Amino acid sequence: MAKIILTGDRPTGKLHLGHYVGSLRRRVELQNSGEFDDIFIMIADAQALTDNWDNPEKVRQNIIEVALDYLSAGLDPARVTIFVQSQVAELCELAFYYLNLVTVQRLQRNPTVKTEMQQRGYSEQAETGDTTQKQGLPVGFFCYPISQASDITAFRATTVPVGEDQEPMIEQTREIVHKFNALYGETLVMPEILLPDNAACLRLPGTDGKAKMSKSLGNCIYLSDTAAEVKKKVMGMYTDPDHLRVEDPGKVEGNAVFTYLDAFCRPEHFAKYLPEYESLDALKEHYRRGGLGDVKVKKLLIAILNETLDPIRERRRYYEERIEEVYRVLEEGSAHARKAAAATLRDVRNAMKINYFEDKELIAAQAKAYKEKHA
Ligand code: TRP
Repeated sequence: MAKIILTGDRPTGKLHLGHYVGSLRRRVELQNSGEFDDIFIMIADAQALTDNWDNPEKVRQNIIEVALDYLSAGLDPARVTIFVQSQVAELCELAFYYLNLVTVQRLQRNPTVKTEMQQRGYSEQAETGDTTQKQGLPVGFFCYPISQASDITAFRATTVPVGEDQEPMIEQTREIVHKFNALYGETLVMPEILLPDNAACLRLPGTDGKAKMSKSLGNCIYLSDTAAEVKKKVMGMYTDPDHLRVEDPGKVEGNAVFTYLDAFCRPEHFAKYLPEYESLDALKEHYRRGGLGDVKVKKLLIAILNETLDPIRERRRYYEERIEEVYRVLEEGSAHARKAAAATLRDVRNAMKINYFEDKELIAAQAKAYKEKHA
């Protein structure tokens, strides 16, 4: 069976280091591994609209931002298909059939949907007449896990590299695949999730030490930040609040600077930037013992982050001078994606027997039955 990747991001803002270690870096490695027959990277604008239907302009402006982030991070349009979700109409068609295979109760139990409903102040009870001051729950938002199942299965993805927060979506997709195949015959490919292998990459905290990097918290370092911005943000980063003087013992756990080092640091960085330490473990050991100041650790992190971001900045510069070309990449990618999805939709329609006009047997049988009626 062909090994196929599908993954993507909502175009609601520029991508940050959390996206980079959580998924982008992995995608580039997967692309370069040559292990996959096809890789689809989707800009999920239709999904972004389930949350931003009142602000399509925001989504529209961010398509190019995400595309530039992809290309700068090293995704190569010669080897992966980068496309825009809304331009593949087949995805809506497929989602519409999947709606029949999922219950409202099951969607309400989806932990990601639950959290997001709370964050957005949507009420679960709105449809049962509970009139709290909360807003009603839009059906489009509520059903986005089903649309995500259609994104994944339309491309027959075997592998979905995503962050931990997407686990419930892949689980939901697997249930839909199982149900569809059981009802209509083996048609859809069962996808597997591929999570980041390093705990720090699973969920990179914000520069303020909060659980997650998020634009609304203003605690992000963006892939498009300049070296000076990165320096300023790292110098202001949250460390261990009890590590007041250099000689105090410090905590490494929950210390965002060390979490970032866990995510970004490679053994060779020490020889290059801090030869007096053999490894990250040695540095952590000194910090715990006391006698190692935050500034020294932050300077190391700044050097490593800027070393990581420099080639990304260079590619961004290249593509920023070729915006029309970037839109062409998306247009061609979307055309290619549409062909792939259309092939799956043909299989789906055949399996569900909603291929009436191609079904010569059906037509002949009906014709015969009605002829007999009038004979
Ligand atoms: N939900 C994902 C996010 O918020 C984006 C997404 C949409 C996606 N469809 C997908 C990811 C299919 C993986 C597979 O980032």
